[in-house]
Amino acid sequence: MKTAFCPGSFDPPTNGHVDVLRRALDLFDRLVIGVVANPSKAPLFSLEERTALFQEIFPASPVEVIGFDGLLVEVARNLGADVLVKGLREGVDFEYEMAMAHMNRHLSGIETVLLPTSAEHRFISSSLVKEVWRLGGDVSRLVPSVVFNALKEKARA
Ligand code: PNS
Repeated sequence: MKTAFCPGSFDPPTNGHVDVLRRALDLFDRLVIGVVANPSKAPLFSLEERTALFQEIFPASPVEVIGFDGLLVEVARNLGADVLVKGLREGVDFEYEMAMAHMNRHLSGIETVLLPTSAEHRFISSSLVKEVWRLGGDVSRLVPSVVFNALKEKARA
């Protein structure tokens, strides 16, 4: 029984995230999506909103959704996670993800699996989705429909 912990800001979840998480489900028995409570930038979606969106996208076991705060490896250890799973898009992600993977292994021994994002999702990031949406662009093909509907409820300011 292998548990993967998949942490991120997910503000908001995108089709790229969902693709990586679905593929991680093929590799591991149990997936815990960890939504960080306080991302570096003030989030558009609250922690409750981000976790609720994932619960709608992945309604059933073996996927669990939690909010978390504090040191990631402590949370992973408490969950009994065997690995961390992150998506990897372009080269810019690489150094950032490698530094975190090394640090997390240094702290805890836990390994990180970096799954390449599918080619059609490589350009999608939560921050670009928010920027395009704020400027009135069409993001309907970049995010799950529940996220698209949730964006409609938000003020663009
Ligand atoms: O989606 P993101 O913004 O790339 O996710 C970043 C995240 C949540 C994985 C990172 O900020 C994190 O691990 N936060 C928890 C605090 C922590 O343990 N920091 C040390 C990481 S080596």
